[in-house]
Amino acid sequence: MKAAQDFIQGNKDRFLEELFHLLRIPSVSADANYTQDVAHCANEVARFMIEAGADAVEVCPTAGHPIVYGEKMIDPSLPTVLVYGHYDVQPADPIDLWHTPPFEPTIKKTEIHPDGAIFARGACDDKGQFFMHLKAFEAMNKTNSLPCNVKFMIEGEEEIGSDHLGVFCKENKQKLKADVVLISDTSVIANDTPSIDCGLRGLSYLEVEVTGANRDLHSGVYGGAVANPINVLAKMIASMHDENNHIAIPGFYDKVMELTEAERADLNKAPFSEEAYKKELDIDAVYGEKGYTTFERTGVRPTLDCNGIWGGYIGEGSKTVLPSKAFAKISMRLVPNQTTEEITETFSKHFKSIAPAGVRVEVRPHHGGNPVVTPTDSKAYLAASFAMEQTYGKKPIPTRGGGSIPIVAMFESELGLKSVLMGFGLDSDALHSPNEHYGLFNYYKGIETIPYFFEQFAK
Ligand code: BES
Ligand code: MN
Ligand code: MN
Repeated sequence: MKAAQDFIQGNKDRFLEELFHLLRIPSVSADANYTQDVAHCANEVARFMIEAGADAVEVCPTAGHPIVYGEKMIDPSLPTVLVYGHYDVQPADPIDLWHTPPFEPTIKKTEIHPDGAIFARGACDDKGQFFMHLKAFEAMNKTNSLPCNVKFMIEGEEEIGSDHLGVFCKENKQKLKADVVLISDTSVIANDTPSIDCGLRGLSYLEVEVTGANRDLHSGVYGGAVANPINVLAKMIASMHDENNHIAIPGFYDKVMELTEAERADLNKAPFSEEAYKKELDIDAVYGEKGYTTFERTGVRPTLDCNGIWGGYIGEGSKTVLPSKAFAKISMRLVPNQTTEEITETFSKHFKSIAPAGVRVEVRPHHGGNPVVTPTDSKAYLAASFAMEQTYGKKPIPTRGGGSIPIVAMFESELGLKSVLMGFGLDSDALHSPNEHYGLFNYYKGIETIPYFFEQFAK
């Protein structure tokens, strides 16, 4: 272990420069204009994997963006860790709100990151985090201290739903054989409060379209006599929550697993300052389902949110128009034992049923994923807990992450593999927002922690 840790300390500057190299590639999976950059990023990830010492490195084409695979099999009788991550990133827009260009990584100090943080799209989600695994592997490999087998699967479509990774897993069950999946793509509570997410919410994502008349109309000539799709859509969306911010779709909560009082108490034991939370977001109050704490609202309760809404005239000045169409993107975060299929169906039926006469509605499902809960008594969880305790000097708190990594449920259903979500980011790192960043403390802490996981897991 000492040799690997010394290797890390001796190569910190290079590890940072290499991450910068990846961060400069705009691997935005959602936007076809960046397809070449995504492909280039995959090739660079593969090159780094080879340089770190992995064997059988391949850039596997899919019907979408490529998957980068590599492995180091030192002894088939030893356990195997499958490391999963994603090299694709969210679109950077709105660009105007970035203080430094999203694909020119820049180090700046912040209140939360006094040692400096790397500002760039993907710095935390997930380039900075998956890259820690390549660097920790390199350190173990080059100091002859890799204690078990490792496989890497770094995909390029996580941010758009991992559509082709499911197929890849089904077709490569043998190749992906492992004992556990290790993922760094989540957060810790704070840099002095390590934690491990033991669950992720699922997702149902849909787009809705409301159509009124067959064309845009003069709002003076027709307004008041013909349905306005924007007014109707706004009313339909508003009706989805009741006065307690409970979701008002019949059947929505039928399968939701309620926590016991003891489980709720446990979840709420983690330190949380509502004042700091509000201050960081510049809000005067938190907002959510009545009867639940903020931790519960983001960790174990399902939600419904409108992610985008458009229609009519949004150009300069004014235009008195009664639009023909209005649209919205709506997503629901799911918890055990809801499934994306059932909730998509429940939503679609309800949405169509509440459309008033005078409009037609269409519901188009996008991607989704099922929720997961990961064990806290497995050898892998205990190894992660041990590892973090070594480097943070404190045992990590098991908690629940509010985000989704749709493929994690598939690892379980298709490959029979449980995951450990040993993430090192912070929720305040502005993932998916302008000015995303990743603390230098977090980056190096991750690299230092991972070898302890391997050491303990291989025992
Ligand atoms: N890494 C995030 C998920 C995450 C972030 C989990 C923080 C827990 C804490 C991941 O890249 C992500 O953003 N997932 C998407 C889902 C995807 C289908 C677009 C999400 O959660 O919105
Ligand atoms: Mn991610
Ligand atoms: Mn993400």
